[in-house]
Amino acid sequence: MKPTAPTTRTLWRHARLATLAGPTGWGLVDDGALLVDGETIAWVGRSADLPAGLAVDAEHDLGGALVTPGLIDCHTHLVYGGQRAAEFEQRLQGASYADIARAGGGIRSTVAATRAASEAELFASAARRARVLMAEGVTTLEVKSGYGLSLEHEARCLHVARRLGAELPLTVSTTCLAAHALAPEFEGRPDDYIDAVCSWLPQLQAQGLVDAVDAFCETIGFSAAQTERVFAAAQRCGLPVKLHAEQLSDQGGAALAARYGALSCDHLEHLSQAGVQAMAASGTVAALLPGAFYFLRETRLPPLQALRDAGVPLAVASDHNPGSSPGLSLLLMLSMACTLFRLTPEEALRGVTVNAARALGLADRGRLAAGQRADVAAWDLEHPNELAYWFGHNPCRRVLAGGLERTP
Ligand code: NIG
Ligand code: FE
Repeated sequence: MKPTAPTTRTLWRHARLATLAGPTGWGLVDDGALLVDGETIAWVGRSADLPAGLAVDAEHDLGGALVTPGLIDCHTHLVYGGQRAAEFEQRLQGASYADIARAGGGIRSTVAATRAASEAELFASAARRARVLMAEGVTTLEVKSGYGLSLEHEARCLHVARRLGAELPLTVSTTCLAAHALAPEFEGRPDDYIDAVCSWLPQLQAQGLVDAVDAFCETIGFSAAQTERVFAAAQRCGLPVKLHAEQLSDQGGAALAARYGALSCDHLEHLSQAGVQAMAASGTVAALLPGAFYFLRETRLPPLQALRDAGVPLAVASDHNPGSSPGLSLLLMLSMACTLFRLTPEEALRGVTVNAARALGLADRGRLAAGQRADVAAWDLEHPNELAYWFGHNPCRRVLAGGLERTP
């Protein structure tokens, strides 16, 4: 089991802080300092303003390094067996993602490989992937199920996700995505499958395996009516919802999710103006997934300006999965969010910190401020706009996760 932070006070000085503490702007503090007390940030500010006579147990000089909140990847499908490189080749020959799914490949092929894998194999491969994300400063990770599609296999995948959070120095938030695809046992009976999913939720929750509930609302996934039944079951359990919405077509999923107070709606390339307004009214975060957009060679952009105009918070995530986004670099997603979706570098960084935290319902992280969890990344960079600028190299130098320094 991983250690927890001892109740010591550690001072980190000579940092260039990008606190993101206000509603806009980088919140830059030159020659800044951070006081960490146990797992929590106790004080943030200019070194010159440090309270006099401060008693600390240890002091570290960051040598002027850029310091940001630890990164948060708020949408991943990290636990699965096998890979789908052959489908990538098929798509390069002209088959579409939806064609492959309808022919029984796609998610269903990963379900077969996931069911065939042992728990030890699932844990080892997911931990390997988590460590790649962590090397770039990720301190909180959401992990979805959705490649088990039976009570037993969904529970096993969620249990593996829980173990990642217990055994690695990061926080893992788990999402039950049993309504990801139709389980093979329910061929031709999607409504019966949705009934089954609804009956599993309280059982999975009773085992402490679920922080949120998600669904894939799409022509090749589940209808809005089926999605709503899953949301109603989540609501009866008191679990928050999120949704894979409007990725390949407009199903009205975002507006439905907003009615259930969804934490986030994710993908959103085909989001309508009505969907934008509904998300704005419910305070739902738009989680943008440029890795899937890139890898599926999509051309229709999410309605970024409409989302901004309506004041919808923007998150950015890897959507790591073997079918539509096999990348394991959240920094590359910042680059893609700017280059492909035209986010500003500041929006992109907010998308993997403060707004990603919100997409997970976590208010205790994503900013450098007193009282926040001491999840912090130090970078070999001068300015935070460089996080979205460089790609293909890793400038992460040091990471604190819950106040404890770990190897990035
Ligand atoms: O977020 N869209 C549905 N789910 C995943 C893809 C899953 C897969 O292809 O295995 C996504 O893109
Ligand atoms: Fe996804």
